[in-house]
Amino acid sequence: MSQVYLDGKFLPPDQARVSVFDRGFIFGDGVYEVIPVFGGRLFRLPHHLARLEASLAAIRLRNPHTAEEWKTIFTRLMAEHGTKDQSIYLQVTRGVAPRDHAFPPNITPTVFAYSQPLKYPPVEQLTQGVTAVTTADIRWQRCDIKAIALLANALLRQQAIEQGAVEAILVRDKVVTEGAASNIFVVSGDRLVTPPKGPYILPGITRDLVVEIARANKIACEEKPVGIESLRTADEVWLTSSTKEILPITRIDGHSVGAGKPGPMHARMFALYKEYKQAFVLGKVE
Ligand code: PDD
Repeated sequence: MSQVYLDGKFLPPDQARVSVFDRGFIFGDGVYEVIPVFGGRLFRLPHHLARLEASLAAIRLRNPHTAEEWKTIFTRLMAEHGTKDQSIYLQVTRGVAPRDHAFPPNITPTVFAYSQPLKYPPVEQLTQGVTAVTTADIRWQRCDIKAIALLANALLRQQAIEQGAVEAILVRDKVVTEGAASNIFVVSGDRLVTPPKGPYILPGITRDLVVEIARANKIACEEKPVGIESLRTADEVWLTSSTKEILPITRIDGHSVGAGKPGPMHARMFALYKEYKQAFVLGKVE
């Protein structure tokens, strides 16, 4: 892998070292972002930086960099991969201190970032859809924070994979929250519904873009609670994320969703999304 960024330096990955007493390692005390790069441009950067700011504020960490400084770091990381589509990962942890749950005074955050070529989902996942399973949302009550502590998400995703599925759809009190690493949309006829923002979901940047595109194109789209039963009656179900974009889910818990294949609303939304992405690559939208 090409160079990574760690605390002010660009280094080969095997020379980038973090203390074993870093609170990210000991407590999972930190936050992260994943930012896609299309055609050499950082997609929805202001949105990702705003969410980073919100995550940092929620865990009471000061943002170690200005937007300009972040952009300078990302640009240098991106240059290593030329014009390929990429995903930038960044994380900020509270830093290094003797183990104690309470925040240590005067601690310097650890800042780590790298870029890698974007791995798009296999094409058959788009043309045939993917399988999901529903499972209890065992996470905490601040899922709006993009926290690096992803043990519950990892367990849930693994559980889905062991059941032959690609994603776990998480359910709290019979209401769908989100996927283990994605947001969820349910389509009935030509209407979209996605769970509202709040403490139980990550405010996905792709989710927000889909809502924005729907509204701009007069596609009915509501942000309201999604009961688990609506997964059974839906015509289509989609998952969204920065790296998987908009993927149709065509089987849930062994039952077909709608006709059991990607539906017309997915085709329409994905075409509009690709159009938006293309305009972005050409510098026609920000
Ligand atoms: N995850 N919900 C959760 C729990 C997520 O982890 C993610 C993304 C999303 C979608 O957010 P966005 O559209 O901003 O990517 C929703 C990233 C991709 C990851 O952890 O790799």
